[in-house]
Amino acid sequence: MSRPDEAPDGVAVVTGGGSGIGLACAAALARRGVRSVLVGRRLHRLEAAAAGLDPQGVALAADLTEPGAPDRVTERVLEACGRIDVLVHAAGVFEKQPAETVDDDHWRRVLDVNLTAAMALTRACWAPLASSGGQVVLISSIAALQPFEGNAAYAASKAGMNAYGEVLRLEGRDRGIRVITLCPAQTDTELWAGKAPEAVRARMMPAAAVGELAASLVGLDRRVDIAPVAIRPVRDPWQGSEPAP
Ligand SMILES: NC(=O)c1ccc[n+]([C@@H]2O[C@H](COP(=O)([O-])OP(=O)(O)OC[C@H]3O[C@@H](n4cnc5c(N)ncnc54)[C@H](OP(=O)(O)O)[C@@H]3O)[C@@H](O)[C@H]2O)c1
Repeated sequence: MSRPDEAPDGVAVVTGGGSGIGLACAAALARRGVRSVLVGRRLHRLEAAAAGLDPQGVALAADLTEPGAPDRVTERVLEACGRIDVLVHAAGVFEKQPAETVDDDHWRRVLDVNLTAAMALTRACWAPLASSGGQVVLISSIAALQPFEGNAAYAASKAGMNAYGEVLRLEGRDRGIRVITLCPAQTDTELWAGKAPEAVRARMMPAAAVGELAASLVGLDRRVDIAPVAIRPVRDPWQGSEPAP
């Protein structure tokens, strides 16, 4: 990871930053002068995404489920950028399996990336965030609030993220850290590739809208405490026939 020029308005670490909602958050933060370090597994995607941001982003390849990876990511960001002002957790997977037959590997894979990695990276970034008076944005899901058939592991991971986020929100107050939990419903990203027809995807929320909301909340007056925020498409893109992620 190369040393970036000074970011005018802070440094964000954005997991899942190479695509979808994570990249949209980074783009919206960039419009507010925040430089993002984009974290994911696919370096080429991260590099392409980082180059398209202004101020330009920084690509950092890591599998956040590997032991020690969240600590290494934090160290490398601090080496390169010297500070962390915003941490956005958008890395996640959406895989469905009926609860009756859910297997241990599936359960672990989903929980590891969607929940445990977010916890481990937040823990590693907590002291730097306290130093900067920073903010955490957890990209959870409407699935945390509204159960759907076939996604027991996903819903459990996101409900866990909401609960974790609420504890962080309380603990962050004394450290000067604001924690925001965002619970979007269907958003048109690669997560739906092969899982939803184009016509359905076209009726989903655009990722840019979710990113814009996240960045707006980060920019909100710091005297405002933000409870978990749920957002949905105006109408169900499946017309009520299929679960949201
Ligand atoms: N799209 C929706 O309808 C929707 C609705 C509610 C919530 N969400 C949540 O929004 C978040 C972003 O999803 P998305 O819709 O934007 O889909 P996406 O484009 O597939 O984004 C998921 C990101 O997670 C990264 N990732 C996955 N496993 C990783 C790992 N082990 N280590 C590091 N990075 C990892 C992926 O990058 P690599 O593959 O390069 O690692 C990818 O950039 C997810 O947490 C998802 O649950 C999505």
